[in-house]
Amino acid sequence: MNLPSRYLLLFITALLSFSCNQKQEKHAYLIGFSQCVGSDLWRKTMLDEMKMELSLHPGAKLVYADADNNSNTQIKQVKEMLDQGIDLLIISPNEAKPLTEIVEQTYSDGIPVIVIDRKTTSNLYTCYVGADNYQIGYMASQYLGNTISGPANILEVMGLPGSSPTIERNKGFNDGLKKFPNLKIKSQVYGDWMKPNAERQLSKISDQLNDIDVVFAHNDNMAFAAQSVFKKLGIASQAKFIGIDATPGAGGGLQMISNGLIDASMLYPTGGKEAITTAIKIMDKIPFSKELILPSLVIDSSNVRLMNMQWERIKTQQKDIERQQTLLEEMEELYNNQRFIFNILVVALVLTVIFGGLAYHSLTENKKINKSLEQKNEEILNQKNQLIAISAEAKEATEAKLNFFTNISHEFRTPLTLILSPLDDLLANESLQAKAGKNLRLIHKNSIRLLRLVNQLIDYRKIEHHKLQLNASENNLISFIKDSLELFMPISAKKNIDLRLLHKERELMAWFDMNLMDKVFFNLISNALKFTAEHGFIHITIDKHEAENTLYIHVKDNGIGMEPDETTNIFNLFYQVERGAAQGSGLGLCLSKELMQLHKGDILLNSKKWEGSTFTIMLPLGDQHLLENEKTSSPSVYVPLFNQVNFSTDDLSKAETEVPKSPFSYVKEQSLLIVEDNPELLQYLVDKFSPDYEVFTADNGKIGIQEAYEHVPDLIISDVVLPLLSGNELCNQLKSDIRTSHIPIILLTAKGSLEQQVEGIKNMADAYLTKPFHAEFLMENVKTLIRNRLVLKEHYSSEFQTERKIPISRSIDKKFVNDFAGFIENNLSNEDLNVDKIAKELGLSRVQLYRKIKALMGCTISEYILSRRLKKAKYLLMNERYNISEITYMVGFASATYFSTVFKTKYGVSPSEFKKQL
Ligand code: FRU
Repeated sequence: MNLPSRYLLLFITALLSFSCNQKQEKHAYLIGFSQCVGSDLWRKTMLDEMKMELSLHPGAKLVYADADNNSNTQIKQVKEMLDQGIDLLIISPNEAKPLTEIVEQTYSDGIPVIVIDRKTTSNLYTCYVGADNYQIGYMASQYLGNTISGPANILEVMGLPGSSPTIERNKGFNDGLKKFPNLKIKSQVYGDWMKPNAERQLSKISDQLNDIDVVFAHNDNMAFAAQSVFKKLGIASQAKFIGIDATPGAGGGLQMISNGLIDASMLYPTGGKEAITTAIKIMDKIPFSKELILPSLVIDSSNVRLMNMQWERIKTQQKDIERQQTLLEEMEELYNNQRFIFNILVVALVLTVIFGGLAYHSLTENKKINKSLEQKNEEILNQKNQLIAISAEAKEATEAKLNFFTNISHEFRTPLTLILSPLDDLLANESLQAKAGKNLRLIHKNSIRLLRLVNQLIDYRKIEHHKLQLNASENNLISFIKDSLELFMPISAKKNIDLRLLHKERELMAWFDMNLMDKVFFNLISNALKFTAEHGFIHITIDKHEAENTLYIHVKDNGIGMEPDETTNIFNLFYQVERGAAQGSGLGLCLSKELMQLHKGDILLNSKKWEGSTFTIMLPLGDQHLLENEKTSSPSVYVPLFNQVNFSTDDLSKAETEVPKSPFSYVKEQSLLIVEDNPELLQYLVDKFSPDYEVFTADNGKIGIQEAYEHVPDLIISDVVLPLLSGNELCNQLKSDIRTSHIPIILLTAKGSLEQQVEGIKNMADAYLTKPFHAEFLMENVKTLIRNRLVLKEHYSSEFQTERKIPISRSIDKKFVNDFAGFIENNLSNEDLNVDKIAKELGLSRVQLYRKIKALMGCTISEYILSRRLKKAKYLLMNERYNISEITYMVGFASATYFSTVFKTKYGVSPSEFKKQL
């Protein structure tokens, strides 16, 4: 996913999640509510009120725990709430004292605490919500005082001892009674707020109840308990029953009053609603009052109906509110859904706009691209048309060239015939044989080669123009191949090549044109012979494949083989592989393939470099594939053209380069190394140069290098295209080597391109001649280069210092001369200084050193050393005060007599006479 689409996705997700989260309140509060007991109606009412109020604050959540009248349980539950992470605690402590510590601690820890209904002993809390219990107790006493005129005994049924309402209500009630001396508290019991408990306690004192006129219970449940006990005792009608709470609903205080079970009740509001509103205020940081005292009033038979009505009304309204709330929730859900859809629509709209923009953008871009593509197309079309035109022109030009070559080739045949016929006569002449036999044979062989090439070209053109007619007849292929091989036997024997047809049967009849098939075999066998080394093999095998109705004739050799790219191109017209001496015209194999295709067959090649090649001739069996006019009843007559095979196969053998080695021939002063892979040209050059020079030869670059190191000739003539190592590489290597760097090199090549000449010069060739060259011109070049070398020699020779400044371009030779001279100078006093030591020092062989010094300095090493010794002696005699024997020693002579003799020979006077003359 790319970057813009990622951002787009993020944007959509954010927008959608925003729309979904909208319905949630900004703040989520967790309110803990710890109830001392939750089972009675009053406290259920309190919880309902809280829930009702909470429904208006959806963000706030209530965690509720009921301690079931057990203070320890309540402490434990509060701790659990704190662990849950409540934001605020509402607590109605079961007993004041035991709960004080946990409330104080919570408050001190920064968690707001709302104490409801009952209190602790401390005022470390955030807010108190509830009615004033002292006032309620007081209100009860006033009610009794105002409604009872005569003396009356009171029974007080109190709540749980230690719970704050019990204490406060008792106090308020007692204080209030002080105003009414007629009212006396006769007895008191603890009912622990619960009806069964109160009944139990009252039953215990049932004997004291007879004179009780009023029962004041701290809640309606305990008042009802007293009424029940009194009823059981049959004294219920004599007493008044007053309670606290006046809880609405079934079983509540209001109902008890309505049913006449109790007489009056002090309204004690639960404060559930107020506790929640205060909690929200605290958490929303809205001001609130620390003591939220709820109002109270007396309810008795006079106002209970009104209260009930009000309560009914409130209940109905409550239900309405609940219904509206449900409706509101439904509306809200609808609203949220609609808003979600709306948001999706907005997103979709935004996306539509964005994608629309993008689409528009890409449309315009596309238009631009299309326009440029159209332009490019047009350009390409133009170029294509141009190419078609050029290729048509090229085809025409090629065709014209080929036509020209064909025509010329035709023209060549007559003069060639006219050369060959008289040549045969000349060759037959014995006296001429002796004089010029060798040259005449050379002319004859090359004329035949030229004739074959001309014929091949003509044949190829005939095939191309469908003018070559197949004259197939049924012949014995075995004897045909054997006859063909026969002609190659002399050359294969000469090269020790195992040339054989490996086929046992004597007869294998097949339809082919003998003349054309002969050409094919000639090409394949001569090709194999060219590329197979001495002691190799060329085996011909035949597979008769009846199912395919085809004959497969394999010509397999173990010659140098071909690289894959060569095998794919080898049948292409004029394709030539750089293979040194064995290079062909690029016509033979192409023609052979065409000739086989004319037979409805083919030639395939399978070859691997350095492993050999197998050419496979495919020839269909029978004559079904041949047209009537392609067949002839009379077998073709093999027409040898000037015994072409006999002569032509000669050129496959290397001409043995004969260097005259007559024991009587005089030793020539200068030597030449000729590196040439064409045996005839090599022989020709040897013939030309051997009268005047000592000639060494090599037919490939590697041997050329070896010969150069071994003989250190005075000059090297080398072909550029050579097997194994090119003339340029040979030149570079020899010129970079101290042993041979001084030897002038002439490069010869048929490729006379300027680049090749530059390449040759770069490789430090001294001259570069292109073939065909004039022999005299080459000989002149050789002479001049050797002469120049002699001049250079003079320069190096310190004995005959020349005035002429000769540029020494060959730094390698200059360095050599310096090293050589330096070594001699430093070792002149050493009488054992000899050629071996110097050769070792300079890293050359004796011969190389000898030849190099001779070539560069024109003297032998001994001559040079002697000359330097005498020169130094002369200097010492002239400039230093040494005696003769000291000088003898200093210039490395073994004896003073010998020194004297040599000095005299050189300078005409003995050293002592010389000194005297000074
Ligand atoms: C309910 C109750 C009420 C009484 C109050 C005192 O549990 O007993 O009847 O008024 O608690 O805390």
